[in-house]
Amino acid sequence: MLGYANAVIFVALALSSVSANYIRTVPSGEFTKRSLHHGMHRRAGASNAAEFAKIQDPAQQCSYYDIPELTKMLKSHQFPKVSHIASIPEGDTQAQQVWQDIQNSGIIPKEVKVKGHTDGKGHSAIDLAGYDGSADPDCWWSASTCKKPKHANIPSDVYTCKEPNTWGLTFDDGPNCSHNAFYDFLQKENLKATLFYIGTNIVTWPLQAQRGLVDGHDICGHTWAHRAMTTLSDEQVFAELYYTSKAIKHVTGVTTSCWRPPYGDVDDRVRAIAAGLGLRTILWQDDTDDWNVQPEGDASVQKIDQNYEKIIGKADKESPIVLTHEINEYTMKEFQRMFPKVKAAYTNVVPLTACTNVTKPYVEDITYPDFGQLITGGKATGLPGGDSIQFDADQSAFKVVSFSQQENGFGHIGRSRTANNPETSSSSAPQSTPNSSFSDPPTNESDTKEGTKSGAATLSGALTFLAGLGSTALFAIWHTTL
Ligand SMILES: *[C@@H]1O[C@H](CO)[C@@H](O)[C@H](O)[C@H]1NC(C)=O
Ligand SMILES: *[C@@H]1O[C@H](CO)[C@@H](O)[C@H](O)[C@H]1NC(C)=O
Ligand SMILES: *[C@@H]1O[C@H](CO)[C@@H](O)[C@H](O)[C@H]1NC(C)=O
Ligand SMILES: *[C@@H]1O[C@H](CO)[C@@H](O)[C@H](O)[C@H]1NC(C)=O
Repeated sequence: MLGYANAVIFVALALSSVSANYIRTVPSGEFTKRSLHHGMHRRAGASNAAEFAKIQDPAQQCSYYDIPELTKMLKSHQFPKVSHIASIPEGDTQAQQVWQDIQNSGIIPKEVKVKGHTDGKGHSAIDLAGYDGSADPDCWWSASTCKKPKHANIPSDVYTCKEPNTWGLTFDDGPNCSHNAFYDFLQKENLKATLFYIGTNIVTWPLQAQRGLVDGHDICGHTWAHRAMTTLSDEQVFAELYYTSKAIKHVTGVTTSCWRPPYGDVDDRVRAIAAGLGLRTILWQDDTDDWNVQPEGDASVQKIDQNYEKIIGKADKESPIVLTHEINEYTMKEFQRMFPKVKAAYTNVVPLTACTNVTKPYVEDITYPDFGQLITGGKATGLPGGDSIQFDADQSAFKVVSFSQQENGFGHIGRSRTANNPETSSSSAPQSTPNSSFSDPPTNESDTKEGTKSGAATLSGALTFLAGLGSTALFAIWHTTL
């Protein structure tokens, strides 16, 4: 915990230091006050994502480094404070305009209330008391695992793959600073995944985030500071999503069209704000619960193995999107250990682009293989290389792209044929309104009872876990508890 506090202090000081034109790191193992007094800036062992990917020592990967242009953006309040619940920083007129447009569009249902509260320490807690979970008027996943909105003009959540015998491969909470061995493994196994990156982690570990894209995975947002989203105000929800998309754009160069709520905590209010930002809500059908391993969590390694085995056992019955994490060494190793069994049972282990046949997850000119192409060895085209991908400091680089402007992004799945669908519409003029009509994506509604009780249980378990731990592997996120 103390080391953690020092890391936070260190970042704060490092951010206020003089910029130089190269990426800097501190020597590993020096997240101590003492290191602050000694030469703390050293040339990085790497000057770009390709070089960084070669660093094997986890401590060296997790040594703080600095991309001066990014530091400048953080210092000049073009992003919210790292690890704090996001809000629109004063003076960000661009964000204010987007937020105003979303409010004016009327897409946010007024009758959906904020759930629970956020305490003085920045911890969010949901409160199920007083909410009619069986009627579930807000389609609140934490109460009922509802995934099909009760309000108009909001697309349903995506949680299964369309093709039979398919495992939808997803990893949350990255970029983990020390994920090189894990990403090497994915590369060696020729696996592509959908990575749900936390905004705070992206701006703290930008070279690691760039590797995710360069390696051919696809990137979705996982909020700025990883809080229970239904407990936040409309503007906070907006800012948590907006600045994560903005971080992804400036750091990796792509405009994402998907996000996943931390703890699955989403209702129609939160979905609507995400939809206004052109972000499709992605959940899961099966949960490994890997993050919850002892000693920090509640579950034994055997229990997590069993969770995996159970999902593995469903291979010929369903095609789940599966929740797994890159949050720490254990979860990354656990996937590597279980993968041979996953592979033996499931014919296809695919990222969500292939799982949903979304070939244009970003507005930029990058095309991902659809399902058929992927399983026959197809690769994404238009990706930057590890030695050419660059941080983009242009303040106007990030623009929200509404569902109707997305050619074949995640907002496209299930979009009704009347709603300016490029497949059927001859008009190529993009609509600026976030309002398009959606029909349900073709999902396999074989939801089990055990899935039904998991929402609230998962969330309260997760929050207890976080409160008890005081910090997680999410860099600097819970330091307000120190
Ligand atoms: C969206 O479109 C529907 C149907 O055209 C309309 O009734 C509704 O008011 C619109 N909502 C917004 C947010 O524009
Ligand atoms: C959907 O569920 C049914 C019944 O469990 C199963 O037979 C079918 O293969 C499933 N389809 C997919 C795509 O998983
Ligand atoms: C990455 O994993 C390591 C090893 O478990 C952990 O100590 C660290 O906090 C994680 N970092 C991030 C940014 O998630
Ligand atoms: C996905 O695209 C492939 C073409 O590669 C096609 O064969 C398949 O039917 C599509 N799947 C769905 C569920 O639309």
